[in-house]
Amino acid sequence: MNAEHVLRCLLMLCFALFSANASNWLYLAKLTSVGSIANEETCERLRGLIQRQVQICKRSIEVMDAVRRGAQLAIDECQFQFRNRRWNCSTLESMPVFGKVVTQGTREAAFVYAISAASVAFAVTRACSSGELEKCGCDRTVHGVSPEGFQWSGCSDNIAYGVAFSQSFVDVRERGKGQSSSRALMNLHNNEAGRKAILSHMRVECKCHGVSGSCEVKTCWRAMPPFRKVGNVIKEKFDGATEVEQRKVGTAKALVPRNSQFKPHTDEDLVYLEPSPDFCDRDPRTPGMLGTVGRQCNRTSKAIDGCELMCCGRGFQTEEVQLVDRCSCKFHWCCYVKCKQCPKTVEMHTCR
Ligand SMILES: *[C@@H]1O[C@H](CO)[C@@H](O)[C@H](O)[C@H]1NC(C)=O
Ligand SMILES: *[C@@H]1O[C@H](CO)[C@@H](O)[C@H](O)[C@H]1NC(C)=O
Repeated sequence: MNAEHVLRCLLMLCFALFSANASNWLYLAKLTSVGSIANEETCERLRGLIQRQVQICKRSIEVMDAVRRGAQLAIDECQFQFRNRRWNCSTLESMPVFGKVVTQGTREAAFVYAISAASVAFAVTRACSSGELEKCGCDRTVHGVSPEGFQWSGCSDNIAYGVAFSQSFVDVRERGKGQSSSRALMNLHNNEAGRKAILSHMRVECKCHGVSGSCEVKTCWRAMPPFRKVGNVIKEKFDGATEVEQRKVGTAKALVPRNSQFKPHTDEDLVYLEPSPDFCDRDPRTPGMLGTVGRQCNRTSKAIDGCELMCCGRGFQTEEVQLVDRCSCKFHWCCYVKCKQCPKTVEMHTCR
């Protein structure tokens, strides 16, 4: 190995370490000790932010509580979407937030980046609409009477503001020295795909005004989809994600499908660089790699939540558990429903 090789290795290691922490701003969700992020000094004390995010924090202090809500939203949605998979998006109480599981360029990492970039755009946009911020409010550019004859309310969701904030705050982690590395390109692509999951599912919501619910006057506004919908869209993209590699295209570097027979991915698709591990076994050297021992599984399912796949062929245990159900519910005039509590026995299967 000559000097140049050594230097290159060092630089790559350096970038690997930097990149390994790239989603750690999600640690904001864990900061129960910090009350509201109300002054610039708090920004310095927030763990998980890189220096340039600390600067954004100071400049945009009033937005930071929304960013923190966004981090929580991302974690909750990830856990919901992955509840039946071997890797269930469990978080650690320390950094890195998801353990080392998503520090490699896998599909799971692609999902985490997309959902986090989307969640910040979503939470900030919500905060704008609710009137809690001085920097932004409703999107009033959509106004007047629509061709369909309804009245725009003048308070549409300001998704442009939320997206721009997400681009500056989330993407800044990739815009450092390693910008043309394949991992930075992957992260930036998936961040953008996450935000697109909101942008391409914006809808029109309306309210009727008039005597006893008649719709004499209808006012409408452009609204974001519910975040569950955004999670579903990104999960679908996860299932159909494209494995890519970095190539020189002209003078620039770009990510292209590893298998040239596959059609190229669009801006809305997720991309990944490395195949995922099987997530079957606990690995004490990899924080967050919990394995599937003790996980619940479904005996009749042939999918990944089924005992065969979830338990990686190790088999499972069956237990009878007592649950209490609401039953024989009766409606009482007026107006409440009274139910009995009925015990019921169900079988629960857990992986060996
Ligand atoms: C994920 O699975 C682990 C066991 O592998 C379990 O301890 C944990 O509670 C699960 N987390 C969630 C969020 O379901
Ligand atoms: C188990 O899987 C079957 C087949 O996919 C499904 O119909 C059933 O609802 C599942 N049961 C539970 C408890 O999720």
